[in-house]
Amino acid sequence: MINKNLIDLEALSVEQIDKLVRKARKIMQNPADFRHACDGKILATLFYEPSTRTQMSFQTAMLKLGGRTIGFDNPMNSSVAKGESLKDTISVISGYADVIAIRHPVEGTAMAASLYSEVPLINCGDGGHLHPTQTLTDIVTLSCEKGRLDHMKIGVCGDLLNGRTVHSLIKTLAKYEGNSFVLISTKELSVPLYIIDILEKNNCAYEISHSLSDAIGDLDVLYMTRIQRERFGSPEEYEAQKYVFVLDREKLDKAREDMIILHPLPRVNEITVDIDDDPRALYFKQAQYGMYGRMALILTLLQDEDFLIPSRETETSLHRCSNPKCVTQSEAYLPNLSYRKLGMQMCDFCDKRID
Ligand code: CP
Repeated sequence: MINKNLIDLEALSVEQIDKLVRKARKIMQNPADFRHACDGKILATLFYEPSTRTQMSFQTAMLKLGGRTIGFDNPMNSSVAKGESLKDTISVISGYADVIAIRHPVEGTAMAASLYSEVPLINCGDGGHLHPTQTLTDIVTLSCEKGRLDHMKIGVCGDLLNGRTVHSLIKTLAKYEGNSFVLISTKELSVPLYIIDILEKNNCAYEISHSLSDAIGDLDVLYMTRIQRERFGSPEEYEAQKYVFVLDREKLDKAREDMIILHPLPRVNEITVDIDDDPRALYFKQAQYGMYGRMALILTLLQDEDFLIPSRETETSLHRCSNPKCVTQSEAYLPNLSYRKLGMQMCDFCDKRID
């Protein structure tokens, strides 16, 4: 089956990802050519969780393409506050808008929402699971600033367990030849096993490190991330992790002159402010590249009839997903969709093992 929903960049071929990046660069070079490209079209931004960049860059992207936007940034101001289900909200909104961008704190929500949408639906972050349009932002940045998406050594540092941006980034860059990763985190915040499986399946080299100082000297890209306070079980667990990895001047002095520093933002305390003026610090520019990436994505989903996204082959599992953070726990009507990987049954919504 094919669809027009962007839930996970992993579903796209390298050719499709490259096409999006090329389109973003084309828009960047000649924005005036695209000023009326989406005249009459409506984007709905449904943000069940706070956002600055993703929400506003999507809205700005649609406005710059000549379209308009509707939506909410606080579900408590919508009928969600009266108990409306995800299914009903999406069924209604997809009758108003031409494209939907959704963020939700629960894993697998974008996939669940896509089952009930008549229009293309874009995952803007689902809990600690995935954030594909941040990855689009990151790869447009890499393409413009490093001139390539392959043969790079990428250090990802911070909350690799809950950091959805890291999961999407690794899954995407693992598709490109010659990339390798240094996974820099505490033991408690290591990447989930399914991400390691993907690295191994792609024959992508990786090392695990517990020291940013030791790892930084040999990197092309350092991708810093925030410790995701809102995803911890208790304040004490967060307190134990929050200052473990901080990029400061002393550590940056060990890095190469051509290493670039990316961060999906928001930053809390993991990069000291004095680094901001260093020419290698590209995180604010990265946020602007994201707007062009999202313009390219909206245009492509609405206008490129050849841009079709293959769906995974799924089956109905006998068992419900037991991940307490999975959308199947809160939206009881969802089917028990699963797929097979390495002989295991995986939840189609949150990618966790079912049996
Ligand atoms: N990078 C990112 O997703 O930022 P926001 O949470 O502000 O959208």
